[in-house]
Amino acid sequence: MQNLPLFGELEESEQKEIWNHVITRSYTKSNIILFEEDQGDSLFIIKKGKVKITRLSEEGKEVILSILGEGEFFGEMSLLDGESRSANVIALSDCEVFILKRDNFLSIIKSTPQIAITLLEELAGRIRKSDQQIEYLSLADAENRVAMTILRIAEESGTFKMGKVTIEELPMQQDMANMSGTSRETISRMLSEFADKGYIERKGKKLVLLDYEKFKTDFSKRL
Ligand code: CMP
Repeated sequence: MQNLPLFGELEESEQKEIWNHVITRSYTKSNIILFEEDQGDSLFIIKKGKVKITRLSEEGKEVILSILGEGEFFGEMSLLDGESRSANVIALSDCEVFILKRDNFLSIIKSTPQIAITLLEELAGRIRKSDQQIEYLSLADAENRVAMTILRIAEESGTFKMGKVTIEELPMQQDMANMSGTSRETISRMLSEFADKGYIERKGKKLVLLDYEKFKTDFSKRL
């Protein structure tokens, strides 16, 4: 629990109290963990693995709103406002999650307000990312949208070192397409083009962004 941003700052006794109310559940890759429109009152915290948050467009195309990994949470929206689930949550790999029921979570928040502050900080960060995504999906051309998706993945899950960013496991090309509002073919073509232009290097699932600042400057100025 020490490694979970939501609970990391709590005293040991407070963490122990939370454990009494947590259940753990496993999902295999591609399992749907939450369905959009379902009713729900539990909060999920990712212990192991990755999930994608998706909605379907009018034409039935999957749009990926976000990818969340270890230590991150989902399901807080329905828990807080009592509305139905706002999106689908699908396992991108085998996953283990901690689940907390609404009443337990709310009583924990009341006794430890720091959790509410951490939750609000994370929600503010998610709104910022969504605002950026709206901007680039509506303004940018396909090349820029793919570049922005690579930047987002780099910022969320890459390792920064000496101006380079290493992404150990790039999402599947179809998932990157669904994050960028483009096709898998365009992702494939753009990755080759970025490699030819010296922006990136690829080896299997690994991608290295060779000069993060330059890539960011070159593509964000074109919005
Ligand atoms: P809830 O609406 O209960 O169920 C779906 C969950 O997906 C939602 O809570 C959030 O936890 C998560 N979610 C919805 N939209 C986004 C987004 N734009 N970025 C990250 N997570 C989201």
